[in-house]
Amino acid sequence: MSLPESAYAHFTPDIQICRILNGLWQVSGAHGTIDPAAAIASMHRYHAAGFVTWDLADHYGPAEDFVGKFQPTLPASDREKAHFFTKWVPRPGPISRQQVEQAVDVSRRRMNMDTLDVLQFHWWLYRDRAYLDALRYLMELQAVGKIRHLALTNFDTANLRLIVDGGIPIVSNQVQYSIIDRRPEVQMVPYCQQNNITLLTYGTLCGGLLSAKYLNQPEPGSVQLDTASLRKYKQMIDMWGGWQLFQDLLRVLQQIADKYQVTLDNVAVRYILDKPAVVGVIAGARLGLRDHFEDNARVFSFALDADDMAHIHAITDQSRDLFQAIGDCGDEYRR
Ligand SMILES: NC(=O)c1ccc[n+]([C@@H]2O[C@H](COP(=O)([O-])OP(=O)(O)OC[C@H]3O[C@@H](n4cnc5c(N)ncnc54)[C@H](OP(=O)(O)O)[C@@H]3O)[C@@H](O)[C@H]2O)c1
Repeated sequence: MSLPESAYAHFTPDIQICRILNGLWQVSGAHGTIDPAAAIASMHRYHAAGFVTWDLADHYGPAEDFVGKFQPTLPASDREKAHFFTKWVPRPGPISRQQVEQAVDVSRRRMNMDTLDVLQFHWWLYRDRAYLDALRYLMELQAVGKIRHLALTNFDTANLRLIVDGGIPIVSNQVQYSIIDRRPEVQMVPYCQQNNITLLTYGTLCGGLLSAKYLNQPEPGSVQLDTASLRKYKQMIDMWGGWQLFQDLLRVLQQIADKYQVTLDNVAVRYILDKPAVVGVIAGARLGLRDHFEDNARVFSFALDADDMAHIHAITDQSRDLFQAIGDCGDEYRR
């Protein structure tokens, strides 16, 4: 299977990505048991299908080790197409140059790569400005070739601005962004557009809740919500407007999906992919348990029109304003 050209975009001049990235939080252990051999076999299937870009983190269980095993087995020409975006999520507290270098070296070793493609940095506590030190040390490691590009995850607009004004070259920010959580549109998207920064999005499928599986279903309880991801986004739906309004949304999305002969989850992804500043949507991959690449390929076969948008917004306009309720991007991690 090959994807159309529209499935790819330049993340940076030197890195082309598939606009649907495979997300590896789903192998961290909180989403079911993952068999390593089956996981690597699944990575090969995703790659062969054209889904060549991966999002992971130092703390996603064996994710970096999987990359370390997977990428050396690719033929050279395929290896060039594959890109692996990891994260560094340090504990709060003072940061030394040695600590930063050690963390980057651990990821390089685990992923079996001299140079990390993209290092996305997360920070828990804004009032501790040691994050600026950490980023400057990361810049030094970039200068010696250990990192190609510096990026962020879950930074709000005010702190992103501080970093950019501090002369730190940030290429992207990874944030929660979905039909039900459109907080990025308030401040983050305009700022990114003005400053040539792109967004990678997660939660776009709401852990799978934005799919036909939940259409016309009673509100799921804790037994049915059997992954960390489902539990997380069910809480978001509760805050957004509750299960009945969510059912109204699923019905509208299914009607749109039927019109284009795609799936409901395809519509949820297409909606965010077409937003300004968004370069890619991350879709979680429970490697070896369930492949979604055939379904996701259909995202590149259709476009939403003004009618579709009006129908979607007729529902979402009835929801609570999550920017008011939670705050800017990433504030859900800092309450
Ligand atoms: N920066 C951060 O703080 C942060 C936070 C969360 C996530 N992330 C990143 O985003 C990725 C996605 O995580 P998420 O929690 O936001 O999950 P998600 O992508 O919203 O949901 C993934 C789940 O949706 C279901 N699904 C239904 N249709 C699908 C389709 N067409 N394609 C893929 N999955 C489909 C799958 O369930 P089944 O497996 O049951 O089929 C899958 O496990 C993570 O792996 C990680 O890379 C980053």
